[in-house]
Amino acid sequence: MSFNNKVVIVTGSSSGIGAAAAIAFAKEGANVVIVGRNEEKMKNVSKKCESFGKKPLVIKADVSNDVDAKRMIDETINKFAKLDILINNAGIAEQDEITSDSFMISFDRVMNINLRAAVYITHLAAPHLIKTKGNIINISSIAGSTNAGSTALTAYCTSKAALNHFSRGVALKLSGHGVRVNIISPGPVRTDILDNLSIPNFNWDTFKETTPLKRYSEPEEIADLILFLASDRARGITGSEFIFGELYAWYTQFNTNSVDNNKMALVTNVRARPSTLALGRVIFIGSVVTQLPNRLDHGGVKMSFDNKVVIITGSSSGIGASTAIALAKEGAHVVIVGRNEKKMKKVNEKCESYGKKPLVVKADVSKDEEAKKVIDETIKTFGKLDVLINNAGVADWNDITSDDFMKKFDAIMNINLRAAVYLTHLAIPHLIKTKGNIINTSSIAGSSTLGMSLLSSYCTSKAALNHFSRGVALKLAEYGVRVNVISPGPVRTDIAESMGADIMTWDTAAQTTALKRVSEPEEIADLMLFLASDKAIGITGSVFISDNGSLVK
Ligand SMILES: NC(=O)c1ccc[n+]([C@@H]2O[C@H](COP(=O)([O-])OP(=O)(O)OC[C@H]3O[C@@H](n4cnc5c(N)ncnc54)[C@H](OP(=O)(O)O)[C@@H]3O)[C@@H](O)[C@H]2O)c1
Repeated sequence: MSFNNKVVIVTGSSSGIGAAAAIAFAKEGANVVIVGRNEEKMKNVSKKCESFGKKPLVIKADVSNDVDAKRMIDETINKFAKLDILINNAGIAEQDEITSDSFMISFDRVMNINLRAAVYITHLAAPHLIKTKGNIINISSIAGSTNAGSTALTAYCTSKAALNHFSRGVALKLSGHGVRVNIISPGPVRTDILDNLSIPNFNWDTFKETTPLKRYSEPEEIADLILFLASDRARGITGSEFIFGELYAWYTQFNTNSVDNNKMALVTNVRARPSTLALGRVIFIGSVVTQLPNRLDHGGVKMSFDNKVVIITGSSSGIGASTAIALAKEGAHVVIVGRNEKKMKKVNEKCESYGKKPLVVKADVSKDEEAKKVIDETIKTFGKLDVLINNAGVADWNDITSDDFMKKFDAIMNINLRAAVYLTHLAIPHLIKTKGNIINTSSIAGSSTLGMSLLSSYCTSKAALNHFSRGVALKLAEYGVRVNVISPGPVRTDIAESMGADIMTWDTAAQTTALKRVSEPEEIADLMLFLASDKAIGITGSVFISDNGSLVK
């Protein structure tokens, strides 16, 4: 993820997420432009960045002021002659109710900084980003799709919802120029933003209790995702929103429905929920509540999987095979699962070349006894399980008016959904022991018909897998076990073969995407490793889309 000589503007980089991102980019060799209003804080960030070898450009600017915003772009181009990456991160949160006299003043201020500044800067930066085929990341919030637990945050929520949809539109427009635009929506992150809200009796330790994972994120975690998305590893990702706490949003809403939440209700009222969960714990599993650490030694958080045990179903080819190979390269003990022995042998040889002998289990995962064999043999061989990747899947045409519709429907659902459900059920006791995680391979077909009615059985199976994953993520959060979903768009794999010969070619598939390309399986494997690693310690219940912008079309 080297950013050597890339020019990166990070707005709002005097503190919090922006500061962490600026420092992380500088560490990877970028020429960083630090932007903010507080000179003292910017000086500190600049010093940190400079310690990695390059002097950043520090611009004092109020991004909601058009003159300042333009000066920021002009000074960047004057100094570095180009722009590769724009991180629109500057933002404020203010509490004010729609019924209060001061509401419009605060609404305008929040909208001007959180939305209008990002829009104007994007407008100014676009010609430069087109030249470098660069990319934009807009830092939004889970408040963009929830009420953030407080009616007093309406302006903030509105600004972030608008930023999300603006980003999708711009992603579509700029995809024609090879420029990617993505969104990161964090849940609670320990920065100055909440401290600045002056919530009575607010304290981060109490606040932690309001989240399913019993932790808030550190700014460095968001910076990690920013760097991943800004890098070439994410070359197939545009128009996507990456949520750091989708579950948190869901959880908070659940708990604030009946509450008079004049102020930050989430701080006080969510405490009822963990006690309900505690009862469930005792009765159903009898395990001890676990907490994920808040502070990670970030210098040490790598995507290493040394001695981790990872099951990847459907790893005889395509995405599963690439993921198994990538994990083996990072030191994992991989369990290769599929039906085609010849293909599995090839994947096995590739994995073994990195030094560890994989376990190969021939199994049709849609048969309960064979699924059970996968888990049993894994535990027998390695004694533990750290990550389960439910990736096996088939796509097939199915016509609701045809006589054999139900037969095909059942077959698709059994492989794409039921097998993942049963394997999850079997794997849970082992994953609780290791505080492991699960990734389910879904598809953009889980949230779109893709305009193909004959694909509806496949779409149904993937929609079910998405929502099953959210439910399990909520249940397992109390044990520190994360569950996430990756939804690819078109990826060049053998899946076409399972659909018969009469499907569209990969070239035609590429035309259905905004970036006019299909992904290679290795790109999805990269995202799998990120999500399965400790870099994603704050991510659970999220659906990560990597589709070359198909859904924004
Ligand atoms: N390629 C795309 O465009 C795309 C887009 C979105 C989502 N996806 C999803 O990505 C996942 C992987 O697909 P892929 O594109 O990599 O296709 P692929 O190359 O055809 O791989 C599918 C894998 O699933 C395995 N599998 C299927 N049925 C199985 C069963 N009953 N038991 C055990 N293994 C089974 C296959 O192994 P055996 O044949 O050896 O059993 C194979 O390893 C699927 O869930 C798919 O829905 C793919």
